[in-house]
Amino acid sequence: MSRLFKMFSNVWSPENEAGIVNLGVAENSLMADELVEFYRTELANTFDHTGLTYGDNLYASKRTTLALSGFLNRHFKPHLPIDPSHIVTGNGVYSLLNHLMHALLDPGEGIILPSPYYLGFDTMCTKRVGGVLVGVKMDDLVEGREGSVDVEEMIRRFEERLQESEREGVKVKVLLLTNPGNPIGRTLSREMLLAYCRFAEKHDLHLISDEVYALSVFENDRLPDALPFTSLLNIDLERELGGSFDKKRVHVIHGMSKDFCSNGLRFATLVSQYNTELHRAMASFGLFIKPSSVSDALLYALLTAPSPTGEENSQTGSFECYADWFIHTNQRRMRDAYRYMRGRLEKAGLEVIPSHAGHFIWTKVSKKAGWESWEGELDGFGKIFDAGVYIAPGSLFHASTPGHLRFTFTVPRPLSELGLDRFEGVHLATSKGSTRDGGE
Ligand SMILES: Cc1ncc(COP(=O)(O)O)c(C=O)c1O
Repeated sequence: MSRLFKMFSNVWSPENEAGIVNLGVAENSLMADELVEFYRTELANTFDHTGLTYGDNLYASKRTTLALSGFLNRHFKPHLPIDPSHIVTGNGVYSLLNHLMHALLDPGEGIILPSPYYLGFDTMCTKRVGGVLVGVKMDDLVEGREGSVDVEEMIRRFEERLQESEREGVKVKVLLLTNPGNPIGRTLSREMLLAYCRFAEKHDLHLISDEVYALSVFENDRLPDALPFTSLLNIDLERELGGSFDKKRVHVIHGMSKDFCSNGLRFATLVSQYNTELHRAMASFGLFIKPSSVSDALLYALLTAPSPTGEENSQTGSFECYADWFIHTNQRRMRDAYRYMRGRLEKAGLEVIPSHAGHFIWTKVSKKAGWESWEGELDGFGKIFDAGVYIAPGSLFHASTPGHLRFTFTVPRPLSELGLDRFEGVHLATSKGSTRDGGE
């Protein structure tokens, strides 16, 4: 972690060219120019006196919550339409998920989840809450496959790990999914979601789906049959599972950080449609998690302002609001940025695990680079950092084997080029200059 903080205190910028290029944190600046201009203009229209008060609602304002429910109904296609009363908003997923875990768990209880997984869960689920993460190794089932996963084998591993955890004295209370996933960047199939639901019902678990990358999906020519995003909310649980299912256990999370490229605004949404007790518990955290009125006003603008007029609109028809145009345009830029970085990484001899969602590319470093041990990975990561670029090593995501790097590709092209130049300088030297064909 200390290198992450070192990077933040010395980030590359045109004024600090010797700073560290950040290709390791999941931020998306492909839309930054348009977004900054939009926010600057719109704040003048949407921020008023109410923004200086605690507002008209416990969490986000009534107008934003209403607009948000409309937006989520359009894009997440829930089986039961989302009503504003189903929504709790918070100041970022980090905080919201931490409070949700606090409401659901007692200290020492377990959260079972597929691994590799997003490193932030280590903090969100354990700090203050005292939860214990119970990872189920899935790398071999997911990597290298073209999207299809052996569902039976997945669930077998979950059963085994849950029993093992309980033998060790950790009672599992929550199943935590990330859809689309981080760090591998793929969507979950409906079949997989249903299998997870059955598992949750069988073991009486809460089922949380972190869908923060839901709309950050893009076309990848190597995954022509990639599955579109399906929200857990879309499933007609009792009918599709063919039996009784306690819907109080289902909680879905989204936020502004990823799909609206606005990590700094700290706004997140929890949708829980049947659990009034949970809503009461979350209400008691109201002011701990309330989003700032500035973020509230900006989200309101995204969800209600008209889309810009221009070439993209005329090709695809009209968009209902600025946010819809934004998502569409962002996905196209992501596709192009991904292809560029994939080409460079393959030329440098890395194996790219194909993905179609999220801000990152999960790779395996060439065997010749000497990353077969965790010490080797740490040493290699240190050398890359010393060359002026931060790329996230696989150990942070609880990869089962050493030798992975996660690259963020959603950065402007010149920064991508600079970071990759710095990376290649070290990597090609340590892997004895080996390159593979297949780049572009
Ligand atoms: C899967 C996942 N969940 C949550 C977050 C954090 O979201 P927020 O910025 O809203 O705290 C991230 C950030 O990288 C993430 O990858």
